[in-house]
Amino acid sequence: MNVEGATVLVTGTNRGIGRCLVDALYDAGAEKIYVGVRDVAKLGNLASKDSDRIAAVTLDITNPDQIAGAAATCDDINLLINNAGINSNTPLIGADSVDNARAEVETNYIGTLTMCRAFAPVLAANGGGMIVNVLSLLARVSLPAIGSLCASKAAGWLMTQGIRAELAAQGTHVMAVLPGSVDTDMTPGGEAKPGAIAAELVQAIRDGVEDLYPGDMAKRVSSGLAQDRKAVEKEFAAYLPK
Ligand SMILES: NC(=O)c1ccc[n+]([C@@H]2O[C@H](COP(=O)([O-])OP(=O)(O)OC[C@H]3O[C@@H](n4cnc5c(N)ncnc54)[C@H](OP(=O)(O)O)[C@@H]3O)[C@@H](O)[C@H]2O)c1
Repeated sequence: MNVEGATVLVTGTNRGIGRCLVDALYDAGAEKIYVGVRDVAKLGNLASKDSDRIAAVTLDITNPDQIAGAAATCDDINLLINNAGINSNTPLIGADSVDNARAEVETNYIGTLTMCRAFAPVLAANGGGMIVNVLSLLARVSLPAIGSLCASKAAGWLMTQGIRAELAAQGTHVMAVLPGSVDTDMTPGGEAKPGAIAAELVQAIRDGVEDLYPGDMAKRVSSGLAQDRKAVEKEFAAYLPK
């Protein structure tokens, strides 16, 4: 897909990977970028970057009314990047309640699915286009210390496979992105820099990749999973604090 000239909506753009994605898409020549954000007051210098090519959209992906509003406003997009996500940093059994697990599912799975459902007709009307779902390497193997995040991302992984099949007939390409740890507010000190992840993602859009493992950690672990899935499961299980 051509990034140059694309009309894009990215969610969760006020910080982290989403913020870097906006810069990378802008530099790659995207014609228009809708920047989804829960609170436009938090947009920072994005708000004044280039009002001809960047437009803010108030969008909480757990709010169906705001999603419907965004689908009506951003009816010219041919690229949807579902980047917004949360990590409650909680285990499954050791957590005080299932509240964090529920919030992660509501955001990372149901929120992303609701976005895909709302924008599928928009993308069909605009020639097919592409959906990119930013998941996590932890969709493929559990890191039990944050097990509820992993389960929500695993749901996103199988959802992404399902919608890829459902939307093939309308010519919509669906990409899963599964990064390892990335140095953002979500994982301070993470191995990869968000700018490098964004750059790899933009190239993968051009190349029409289906499953992208950006960064060295993601590539290393995904290759380990292909060779010996159980060995990787046991390695990650050992990181659970005793
Ligand atoms: N960092 C990592 O190590 C890592 C690894 C693998 C995958 N990922 C994934 O990469 C994506 C981006 O993460 P990040 O590292 O950039 O995290 P981040 O710095 O914490 O940023 C998360 C972004 O998502 C937004 N967001 C959260 N809930 C939302 C909602 N309900 N509706 C709309 N926006 C919402 C946040 O907005 P507010 O500012 O309003 O909260 C923020 O803009 C996430 O899907 C994450 O799971 C991250």
